[in-house]
Amino acid sequence: MKKVLIVYYSLTGNTRFIAETLKDAMEADLLEIQPIKELNPDSGMKFVWGGAQATMKIKPKLKPIEVNPLEYDLVIIGTPVWAWTITPPIRSFLSMFNLVEKKVALLTCSAGSGDKAMERFKKALKGSDVIGQIKFQFTSQDQAEQEFTGNKVRVKAWASELLENLNGGNSIGTIQEIA
Ligand SMILES: Cc1cc2nc3c(=O)[nH]c(=O)nc-3n(C[C@H](O)[C@H](O)[C@H](O)COP(=O)(O)O)c2cc1C
Repeated sequence: MKKVLIVYYSLTGNTRFIAETLKDAMEADLLEIQPIKELNPDSGMKFVWGGAQATMKIKPKLKPIEVNPLEYDLVIIGTPVWAWTITPPIRSFLSMFNLVEKKVALLTCSAGSGDKAMERFKKALKGSDVIGQIKFQFTSQDQAEQEFTGNKVRVKAWASELLENLNGGNSIGTIQEIA
């Protein structure tokens, strides 16, 4: 039995909703990472501070992480998109564990397309074996609406695809640095 870890960060709940739905769809451990100093999700200032931190590639101190991601066969990493890139807490996580040659799958939640952020996400995981990637677009925080938009169906389909790739060895490819 292959071991799967879903690690995610979420400020306003969308990525948490997807990560929890994914956990329902496959046997996996769930790890929510949190910075010691969190932004206020209800304040408009979060866009200013969060966006600046993301752009400057700040790596905030995280609350203790109780599991070892390296013990898993697949690490699924979920992040909101901030300023067209991954969030600072996820950047901290990636700096704490060497995921080179590890099977990973990438998940983003964004208001826009999230295309640019996914490219940057893959670059941040250079050397890892990316066996899946998926983007979720949220235009509202309304959970009922999220369910109706078919996100749950997409999550379940992705879970099966990942398990197939994990067992069959398919991969999108290792992201290598271009010489
Ligand atoms: C600081 C900040 C910056 C953001 N920047 C972008 C962005 O560049 N592109 C985008 O599509 N969405 C952006 N968003 C919207 C979030 O990606 C989107 O609301 C996401 O679903 C939030 O996930 P969460 O609820 O798990 O925190 C930003 C949100 C915040 C708080």
